[in-house]
Amino acid sequence: MLKFTSVSLEKSHTKMLAIPVCEDKDIHTDITIKRLIRQAAGLEEFSGEKDQQVILYNLANNKINRCFFYGLGPLEKLDSEKLRVFAGKAVKAAKTAKCDKLVIAVPGSDTMMPMQMPAILASLGEGALLSNHMFEAYKSKPKNISLKQISFYGPSKNSQKFGRLFKAVQAICSGTIAARDWVTTPSNDKPPMQLAKTITSAMQKSELKVKLLNEAKLKQQKFGAMLAVGKGSSNPPCLMEMVYSPAKAKKTLVLVGKGVTFDTGGINLKSSASLGAMKSDMSGAAVVAGAMLAVSKIKPRHKIVGILPLVENMPSGNATRPGDIVTSFAGKTVEIGNTDAEGRLILIDAMSYAIKKHRPDMLLDIATLTGACAVALGEKIAGVFSPDDELAQLICKSGESTFERCWRMPLPEDYKKLIKSKVADLNNLSESRYGGAITAALFLSEFTNDTRWAHIDIAGPSFSKKAGPYCNPGGTGFGVRLLCDFIARV
Ligand code: BES
Ligand code: MN
Ligand code: ZN
Repeated sequence: MLKFTSVSLEKSHTKMLAIPVCEDKDIHTDITIKRLIRQAAGLEEFSGEKDQQVILYNLANNKINRCFFYGLGPLEKLDSEKLRVFAGKAVKAAKTAKCDKLVIAVPGSDTMMPMQMPAILASLGEGALLSNHMFEAYKSKPKNISLKQISFYGPSKNSQKFGRLFKAVQAICSGTIAARDWVTTPSNDKPPMQLAKTITSAMQKSELKVKLLNEAKLKQQKFGAMLAVGKGSSNPPCLMEMVYSPAKAKKTLVLVGKGVTFDTGGINLKSSASLGAMKSDMSGAAVVAGAMLAVSKIKPRHKIVGILPLVENMPSGNATRPGDIVTSFAGKTVEIGNTDAEGRLILIDAMSYAIKKHRPDMLLDIATLTGACAVALGEKIAGVFSPDDELAQLICKSGESTFERCWRMPLPEDYKKLIKSKVADLNNLSESRYGGAITAALFLSEFTNDTRWAHIDIAGPSFSKKAGPYCNPGGTGFGVRLLCDFIARV
């Protein structure tokens, strides 16, 4: 899908070429590209200012049918995200022009300081691939206007030097796209067992070992908190486990993703307005599965385990009631103060199981856990909770580099009294209606023992009704690139 080209633009035929332009410096080294930019810069409406765009037709003796110019603003402020956005917009422009191929002009590395060529190419590749994806599985007449080929025009040495990099970018973007599709799929087509099957078949060609615990196994092994959430649904819960285990691995990292295939709230039924996007309440699971898919192709040196507790939260005659008390996998008892605080119930059992079975060096969970986190940080930024400064900072650093922005939130000891219960060890509902993202994270922290752990709340950024610069409406896949970047750092 992504490829390199250094075939002369004057000698071949190009349907659509896209050129990124800085307002204060020529960042290109190729003579033809430089000449084309001078043509665009002759227009009043284009000077390379941030987000300016213009298309010129029939350039270079009609060898180039359409040339899309995009302003990056001043070189000094250039970063990876601006390049992703450029590539994303270029792909959209090509789709609009009904082109099935696009050539993107790669800036020269020495002219782009302080950005380096690997970061430049990775950003352009990500923006282009992610923007090219559209969810059309349920359209009887799919428009299917995705580009068939995206080529990067630059010196021929690029293709030898950065072939591996492009493979990694493609793997990470495929994982992100898979996650998006699973999230956007309606809940009638992804009850827990079916979602597990869908994800399993996506992993079939990989070397990941996949294991499934069905409801009977979960009962046998006493996943009491998780089972309590699934009780109201006629679709039984299950727990999926994916293991990537390279021969000389020294460290084990476990990723746990919240997989509520639909969250009605249970007996504490949500309002109509809040029910709208609840098919996306399995985003954490989708993100972990997408990241595992990428991991299986990138082959990092650590052992990585993905664990997905999958369950549907429904009200019914069999559903768990507010006030019920359940015994978690770890043995601690939990009073169900609110059946809509179900995410933390499935996570604690999955985390306890992961700790017991895999003894990980690090445990990360990612979840659409609280509306409160979305209230605090909005729809573009995830909350990161960890008692471990280094771990929290590492995740936030990854967020900066992938632009899946993360903000560290506190875990104050004294707030723990808010989740005490008079009759059980803990209550899944806080006494206070304030600080809901924090009390949810503190609840999880009661089940981490001494494992290095971080929790990422993606309730805000996991799903979007609006299109972004390189994401169509629906599941965003927020977190797949983040986890992959994190894995490459640790
Ligand atoms: N799945 C929701 C959180 C959520 C809200 C995700 C909005 C995405 C968008 C979660 O299970 C939930 O219902 N949380 C409750 C907790 C409360 C009952 C303590 C909430 O946030 O209101
Ligand atoms: Mn809920
Ligand atoms: Zn939920």
